[in-house]
Amino acid sequence: MSESPAPAVLTLRPEWTALEDHRADALPRPSLRRLFAEDPGRAERYTARVGDLYVDYSKHLVTDETLALLRELAVATGVFELRDAMFRGERINTTEDRAVLHTALRAPRGAVVEVDGENVVPGVHAVLDRMAAFAQRVRSGEWTGHTGRRVRNVVNIGIGGSDLGPAMAYEALRAYGDRSLVFRFVSNVDGADLYEATRDLDPAETLFIVASKTFTTVETLTNAASARDWLVDALGDEAAVARHFVAVSTNAEKVAAFGIDTANMFEFWDWVGGRYSFDSAIGLSLMAAIGPDRFREMLDGFHLVDEHFRTAPAESNVPLLMGLLGVWYGDFLGAQSHAVLPYSHYLSRFPAYLQQLDMESNGKSVDRDGQEVGWQTGPVVWGTPGTNGQHAYYQLIHQGTKLIPADFIGFARPVRGLGGRLGAQHDLLMANFFAQTQALAFGKTPDEVREEGVPEELVPHKSFRGDHPTTTILAPELTPSVLGQLVALYEHKVFVQGAVWNIDSFDQWGVELGKILARRVEPALSKGAHVPGLDPSTAALVAAYRDIGK
Ligand code: F6P
Repeated sequence: MSESPAPAVLTLRPEWTALEDHRADALPRPSLRRLFAEDPGRAERYTARVGDLYVDYSKHLVTDETLALLRELAVATGVFELRDAMFRGERINTTEDRAVLHTALRAPRGAVVEVDGENVVPGVHAVLDRMAAFAQRVRSGEWTGHTGRRVRNVVNIGIGGSDLGPAMAYEALRAYGDRSLVFRFVSNVDGADLYEATRDLDPAETLFIVASKTFTTVETLTNAASARDWLVDALGDEAAVARHFVAVSTNAEKVAAFGIDTANMFEFWDWVGGRYSFDSAIGLSLMAAIGPDRFREMLDGFHLVDEHFRTAPAESNVPLLMGLLGVWYGDFLGAQSHAVLPYSHYLSRFPAYLQQLDMESNGKSVDRDGQEVGWQTGPVVWGTPGTNGQHAYYQLIHQGTKLIPADFIGFARPVRGLGGRLGAQHDLLMANFFAQTQALAFGKTPDEVREEGVPEELVPHKSFRGDHPTTTILAPELTPSVLGQLVALYEHKVFVQGAVWNIDSFDQWGVELGKILARRVEPALSKGAHVPGLDPSTAALVAAYRDIGK
């Protein structure tokens, strides 16, 4: 990789200690009421635009000085050099010795992005074209099942990045989907997931998309094998598999071994991380739902934000800003979690999607050199659609003891097709959206509560401290392009944080141990086999499981 600043322990860097000193000056917390009073232009100045996204960060516990110091930290930690190395296709995923090129998945035809001297963009578009042809055949009814009936049901079988992305995006873009087709997503190895997804489907009209980067993931292969049994039992012919199963993978050999014709395999590449993959062939189910044109609009949305991240100056670079704000809260103000609160029912799976994106990427405790980090890395990411959260956990955000920075995502118009009385509910939804960030930021002082005639003993209970930081992201409408823009925004935010923390955001070794142990324990559960080396607690639990289940 090309010249990056000399490595140094992050917390010893002068840019880090400058932020610590700055924090000490500002403690206990800068008051948002005071910050707005001192700077009448704050509301306008602390906004940024990227594509269709209007981003307001005025309700953050920061000043111009905080932001300048954070940008200096980004420069010192080599964020920009690492960003450029990523876009150039260098092997910045060092522990897996891989390039990190999800940005190439949405590069326009004709762009040049090289990995080991080979331009990968033509290959990306060749797969997109094959996906489009296939998706059209499914959508038009031309792709028929073994008995000659058209496909009406599409079931995606995958897990992690091979499920969360397409499932989230399918939900988000339901209004753009072909409503005459049924789409289901199966991920859990709990047989109930596949059972519930298929129990009311006609096998003769059902297509399974087995999505797995490695094609070795036990959950996916187990579900795919069960789905194959379900199909073959119903249609009475092994040959039916060819018309009812397609695969999305990097591993043609394993796809063939499973029995899926590799002519019906859609490939992607090892430089696409699982959690960064739904804009690759992993999005095949989504493309079948919304059609190739809409899928390409989504890719254009991704690309727009990629270009912004790659070229915008630091002062107006939105993913940089969002990443640095997270560093400020996690490393300097002690926040442990980050809430993502979409005010759109269609984005109900967005927080779950972001959990993998962020927590699998930045849930690390050793740096790129294998040294234990002495600073906070990725936060716990959580959330649900906003109005439902208001009647559940917002109480804790407003009046609890924890600092929880939150992103509020809302839209100026309801999603297309939602008209009449239901569409008119949108203003009420958004009134809640604005009211919540206002209450979180400015609270309600004891004096304001007293002015309402509240008895003194209730004043502490009815007072709100405020100063709860939020980012407000507003877009005109939830379209395919806007969804792409949002996802790319978070991808690059996560990137910025990993770069500052000097961790490899693109590996996921932490999920391996559990997988290996599950394989060892399984024979003890199914056959009562002795598992050597099982710890006493787990051995006792395994015995109880067998006993209770008799
Ligand atoms: O959970 C670990 C993981 O490797 C994820 O990173 C990945 O998205 C998921 O498993 C599924 O992997 P695959 O697509 O190879 O089946």
